[in-house]
Amino acid sequence: MWSLIIITLSLATIEQFGSEALVVGTNCTLAPKGNPKFPKDFSFGVSTSAYQIEGAWNADGKGLSIWDEYTHNHSERITDGSNGDDAAKSYYNFDLDLKALKDLKVNHYRFSIAWTRIFPSGETVSRNQKGIDYYNKVIDKLLANGIEPMVTMYHWDLPVEIQKFGGFANSLIIQQFLQYAEELFKLFGDRVKTWITFNEPNMICKPGYGIASSPPLVKAPGVGDYMCFTNLLKAHGATYRLYRSKYFEKQRGKVGITLDTGFVFSKLNKTDDLARAMQYKLGMLAHPIYSKSGDFPSIMLSEIKKNSQVEGRKQPRLSSLGGYWTDIIRGSADFLGINYYTSRYIERPAKAIGENPSMERDYGFEDIFDPNWQRAKSNWLYCVPEGLERLLKYIRDEFNNVEVKITENGWSDGGELNDDNSVRYYKSHVQAVLNAINDGCNVSSYSAWSLIDNFEWNKGYTEKFGLYSVNMKSPKRERTPKKSAIYYKKIIKSRSVPNEDEV
Ligand code: NOJ
Repeated sequence: MWSLIIITLSLATIEQFGSEALVVGTNCTLAPKGNPKFPKDFSFGVSTSAYQIEGAWNADGKGLSIWDEYTHNHSERITDGSNGDDAAKSYYNFDLDLKALKDLKVNHYRFSIAWTRIFPSGETVSRNQKGIDYYNKVIDKLLANGIEPMVTMYHWDLPVEIQKFGGFANSLIIQQFLQYAEELFKLFGDRVKTWITFNEPNMICKPGYGIASSPPLVKAPGVGDYMCFTNLLKAHGATYRLYRSKYFEKQRGKVGITLDTGFVFSKLNKTDDLARAMQYKLGMLAHPIYSKSGDFPSIMLSEIKKNSQVEGRKQPRLSSLGGYWTDIIRGSADFLGINYYTSRYIERPAKAIGENPSMERDYGFEDIFDPNWQRAKSNWLYCVPEGLERLLKYIRDEFNNVEVKITENGWSDGGELNDDNSVRYYKSHVQAVLNAINDGCNVSSYSAWSLIDNFEWNKGYTEKFGLYSVNMKSPKRERTPKKSAIYYKKIIKSRSVPNEDEV
């Protein structure tokens, strides 16, 4: 009996991770498999976020966010010393963005709302009508042009006034976020039917509350980051429940969350290591929401408990969500948003790595890249399209084929208009999505990152992800389509994966 179960389990693992000794990422290409066309109702779009494109950081009553404060106080931490004060000025130039969206003929546009633009102090009593007017204008113009708005509620720009209470390190954030989210449902829910609560919790919690490389610069690795994840998941779950109980009946929209993850490969084909690595990479946030049993992955809870005991702690650094919250969070999403950029090989290092304690130490693997992989301008971004296809199949098998929206995928370079590498990246990654759909994966949409060149966080304006270049020297910030825009337009028009030499 036991041996039977073990055999079935390892077969499932082999199915998910593949049994061959893998060579991936060759030439940044991917062979097509199956039907060359996307399903009729598949939605193509592009993504942006408020701080990265809007500018107008203190215009018309907007309050301060942690990214305003951080870039002003720590310009030395930004590669080119820049900030998002003006960025692409989308707050003043939405019509230029709309023109690009219409030109591409996208089906949807994913953008985020700057919390401080509509509630300057974060609290909903501090309502700012001009900010509300701005987002009403954006939503109405999109709809008037047949473009579906997909709205991210939180893309990293927490109000400074909320940070004063501890931000995501304090469970108060659950109520603070819930009140904000409820106002968004009331203000825009008649027209917005796709809501994403949080963009990339990993990038909120690890740099923000673990290694302190981004605001709010709390350095508490292996402790603060886990606190942040726990509070964020609760805020997400509570928001979903609120929508379903109070707004869904009238508004009929969907609420989800966007998680970022790569996929993992093993040169030694160690499938158990791969399964464990994916629990740490994706499972930590996906398991509580999308698995049947809920809560953090049991392997993480038990390993981190053990590590915490060895460190002499009375409490584990990561605890179970408990019965009440497990129930609230389990099933609290209508879709899973995925930001996919790249993948890694994993290896077990000879000695423990990372600070003690830290998430890196708990995870225990070394993530490595293949020097033959094509690299973007961003030093972490390599072209591994197989990773996206595998990831989608992994999600299909692990989370009951939940609806997946690819909410970001894209490539950085120095801003050239002839961005051939970007075209190649899009070609292979859109192919990966199509292959996965042909293999039964429930993927309903794809969003390229990004519509326009924008403020790339700690890298300032030195790494460009846009389909459209932005003239940063001109006060008007004119947008110019790059080769990748022309190629993506062809993808949308043909609903297939055209050859790159067609552009
Ligand atoms: C994901 C983030 O959501 C986005 O803000 C960022 O610009 C891209 N990754 C590229 O790094």
